[in-house]
Amino acid sequence: MLKAIYPGSFDPVTYGHIDIIRRSSKLVDELIVGVLNNNAKSPLFSVEERVKMLEEVTKDVPKVRIVPFEGLLVDFARQMDARMVVRGLRAITDFEYELQMAQTNHKLEEELETVFLTTALEYSYLSSTIVKEVASFGGDISQFVPELVMDRIFEKISKKGECK
Ligand code: PNS
Repeated sequence: MLKAIYPGSFDPVTYGHIDIIRRSSKLVDELIVGVLNNNAKSPLFSVEERVKMLEEVTKDVPKVRIVPFEGLLVDFARQMDARMVVRGLRAITDFEYELQMAQTNHKLEEELETVFLTTALEYSYLSSTIVKEVASFGGDISQFVPELVMDRIFEKISKKGECK
């Protein structure tokens, strides 16, 4: 049984992530989407909120399970009994960081292989950071994230504004 992990922050999930989830899930028996619980990154959404959104937007994709994790990816992979990591590559700017991560993970766990999927052309510019930036200025993010995610981003941003 081929089990893979697609790890990330998913703060929040975008159409770019969903495209990678759909395509990579077809290549494996089970795809575990690992959602990093790392408060050091000061995420907009809690890990529970990110997991819930991912569950909602992938509910029609078979073989996918959303699981939060903390600590090292190699430990999570061991725990999940997965030997493959999937990452999306957008542009050349992603390459250096991704190569470094893949090689570090391979040094830490020889059995763990990282496989890269090139992001679909229409999402090659897209990132969660850009989506939050556009939303923070009231821009239209409907082409970047599903409606339910868009609603939650604006809800979150308006609540943050009220706290100031
Ligand atoms: O969506 P992101 O933020 O680009 O995902 C990065 C992620 C979660 C894949 C990466 O930060 C990660 O694996 N973190 C867990 C800690 C770890 O294992 N670090 C060593 C690998 S360099």
